Amino acid sequence: MHTILIACESHKQQAQAIADHLKLPLHEVVVTHFADSEISVGLKASAPSLASLHAIVVHSTSYPVNENLVELLLTLQMLKNKGVKKITAVIPYFGYARQDRLQGGESVAGFVLRLLQEAGADSVVTVELHNPNIIDDAPLPVTNIVLTDVIADYIAQQEEQNDLTIIAPDRGALGRVEAIADRLDASTMVYDKERYAVNKTRITASSGTCKTLKGIIVDDIIDTGSTMMQVADKLHDEHSSCHMFAFAVHPVLSGDARRKLQESYFERIWITNTITWDQGTLPDKFVVVDISKYIADSLRTLI
Ligand code: R5P
Repeated sequence: MHTILIACESHKQQAQAIADHLKLPLHEVVVTHFADSEISVGLKASAPSLASLHAIVVHSTSYPVNENLVELLLTLQMLKNKGVKKITAVIPYFGYARQDRLQGGESVAGFVLRLLQEAGADSVVTVELHNPNIIDDAPLPVTNIVLTDVIADYIAQQEEQNDLTIIAPDRGALGRVEAIADRLDASTMVYDKERYAVNKTRITASSGTCKTLKGIIVDDIIDTGSTMMQVADKLHDEHSSCHMFAFAVHPVLSGDARRKLQESYFERIWITNTITWDQGTLPDKFVVVDISKYIADSLRTLI
């Protein structure tokens, strides 16, 4: 079965980079916007017949999450209607993944997976899910690309390895942080975080100390930036001589997160391109780490 890549309208760069690594043809979805904000999706007239092909659709459901999710759902349905035989939805940043608590037998994240399946996806490939356990109850196969080795190797290229503490901003991030620290032979430290309202958390206590000169806080997501900022402030209070760095897989960067982080104690903030940000629109402390090769590599067994 021949495989093609399909790029939804936003995140075309992401799809192009993956297509380049895999040396596969890429076709772009064309979105028409109606006056009431409904959309319809199609392919350019020059696109070949897709009947009996395997289509890999690449699209992050990042901000604006609902618009991007609907664009993806309509794209899957359009491909199914065109007779595509197999559809793999590659969703580097999976919006709604944080809504992982079961409510009446299904989480919101699980419900979104069910919508993707209903729309036409045969399987989903995503990156560093907030809670990989949602895969267990998923209605379709989900591959979660874990980047701990990639992050560790990247950090090793940037900073002297013998001088690092890898820091988890909350208990949920500890497994990831321990795996990275193991590979780097670095020490670890973890903070406790409690949520008291939507998008509002407070860092309460820390376990361990940052004995080294450099602390790298690693998390899956920077959304409002509040978690990273609070940890940086606490770390500065406790160890004012510690040089601070942050690594986040998914740079949601809502509101004024970019400005706040630029003005923080962090010296460097590494983010991946699961969500597309042009380096030119980011303040100079931010560095984009391209992970398209690792997504492409994980797709090779499917094509
Ligand atoms: C939640 O537990 C996640 O792992 C992140 O820590 C969280 O989403 C970050 O959000 P914010 O940047 O708004 O603090």
